[in-house]
Amino acid sequence: MFIPASIPLNHYSVSEQLVSLQQKMATTPIKDLFADDPARFDKYTLEAAGLFLDYSKHLIDNKVMDSLVALAEEARLPQAIKAMFCGEKINYTEQRAVLHTALRSFNSQPIRVDGQDIMPLIRETRGRIKKLTEEVRSGQWRGHTGKPIEHIVNIGIGGSYLGLKTVINALTPYHKAGLSHHYVANIDPNEISDVFSKINPETTLFIVASKSFSTLETLQNAQAARQWMLHRGCSEADIRKHFIAISTNLNATDTFGINQANTLPLWDWVGGRYSLWSGIGLMIALVVGYDNFEGLLKGAQAMDQHVQTAPLSENMPVILGLLGIWYQNYFGAQSHAVISYDYFLRDLPGHLQQVDMESNGKRVNHQGEEVDYRTGAVIWGGTGTNDQHAYHQLLHQGTQLIPVDFIAPATTHNPLGEQHRWLFANAVAQSQAMMQGKTIEEIRKELADSGMSAEQIDTLAAHKRVPGNRPNSMIVTEKITPETTGALIALYEHKVLVQGTIWQINSFDQWGVELGKVLGNRVYSQLTGDHQPHHQDSSTTGLIQRFRQLNKSRL
Ligand code: F6P
Repeated sequence: MFIPASIPLNHYSVSEQLVSLQQKMATTPIKDLFADDPARFDKYTLEAAGLFLDYSKHLIDNKVMDSLVALAEEARLPQAIKAMFCGEKINYTEQRAVLHTALRSFNSQPIRVDGQDIMPLIRETRGRIKKLTEEVRSGQWRGHTGKPIEHIVNIGIGGSYLGLKTVINALTPYHKAGLSHHYVANIDPNEISDVFSKINPETTLFIVASKSFSTLETLQNAQAARQWMLHRGCSEADIRKHFIAISTNLNATDTFGINQANTLPLWDWVGGRYSLWSGIGLMIALVVGYDNFEGLLKGAQAMDQHVQTAPLSENMPVILGLLGIWYQNYFGAQSHAVISYDYFLRDLPGHLQQVDMESNGKRVNHQGEEVDYRTGAVIWGGTGTNDQHAYHQLLHQGTQLIPVDFIAPATTHNPLGEQHRWLFANAVAQSQAMMQGKTIEEIRKELADSGMSAEQIDTLAAHKRVPGNRPNSMIVTEKITPETTGALIALYEHKVLVQGTIWQINSFDQWGVELGKVLGNRVYSQLTGDHQPHHQDSSTTGLIQRFRQLNKSRL
């Protein structure tokens, strides 16, 4: 049922070669590869859309890279990239095109879905985002007591939350002063109550962001926000001054009471986790200004241009995707860490978790057959240097192979003494330490030099040894700007396409999430009602009874 580590991608002829290369590379110290080839850094670095990638500290040589590129060719990756950009219905289980890339296109060429050019819709919506942004930021948009907006609350979850929050925090230096931003995603009442305690009903604008406008959490939170406003002096007629919606479901937004003038459209060819580039990103524009929002789109567009035109061997998303496949399918890695050395990028791993794991957490191929190889990795991470004092120990000396992407801007928006230089130094040093490690001989010598007895050295040496050969990439950019943030997120989006193509899975549906929603409804109905389903496991029944018992006085 679960796929063992050792099953490679046998459906490709080049896979056999990769298996034998893996056996060689598994015992090759990367530091020897550096010693043997002074040009290694030049060979395994590349630049695109304002991002610089160093992938020289990987368990690779030319033969490995050639074979990985051959794997991509055998998987018809160039054709898959083209199919996505041209609007083919590559999300075939939902009969949908996958065209988030059109949202960041500023080209004049039409992009068609079912024969209709979607670019005019996109341009019109951008115009509406711009207008709304200017109205709110200039103070022209007024709340029900005539005061300008000071607080914006995004009510949305998953793709209607993670991406826009990641970008807004990444672009903190671009925020408009006096406009606070808040998020309500979870159905946990603590979350919305916390936000209510920080905002003023007279000066708050709620954005209800939901592609489907049927998501339980978002609808419950939107209703709670509406009631909160009504109980604080806002009339039904004035609710429109405090609510904007973004959705494909205009009937539902209407029923909720947000009129079409205050609703931005969305389309089924934009996947939820790829939607920050659409009206779902309205809050980004409100907080950082429309021009910066466009800068974000243009940065992503530069990466779109790169992925479509660069040869596979010099293509940044392709390289990142192939390296992931190399470790996941040939070395038995199960997870992948993304660690940014920039506080403002602290939400990136959370967004990438959805982008990657909701896309490639799949177990059947295009024919609906169960695959016998591993697909999507567990994506996780955080920020340096904090995490050096938390989980890096396991990365350095643990038993699992966990490839890491370090992301580090070369300059900071907040120069403060030597702090940024220390930050960057730590990023590079972690990358180096993971690759080079520390040998037992080096440790023995160091301990002997410090005057330690032979007996003490014998006890300590093995514990101090750092094996090294932990593969990692370094992504450097001059500065975190709207453009580089757009390029960075687009880089990871395209990495998902690369890997999903090679794994022969549909990266653009998410049927697995549905079961939990259905069962959630069923459990909910049992928490108060008398209804008890016949076929239910004793754990679920027992937990429901425990809840009812603990809430006896409240039910
Ligand atoms: O739960 C899965 C999901 O459908 C995500 O794919 C999506 O981003 C999220 O829920 C929110 O959906 P919506 O924008 O329709 O409220």
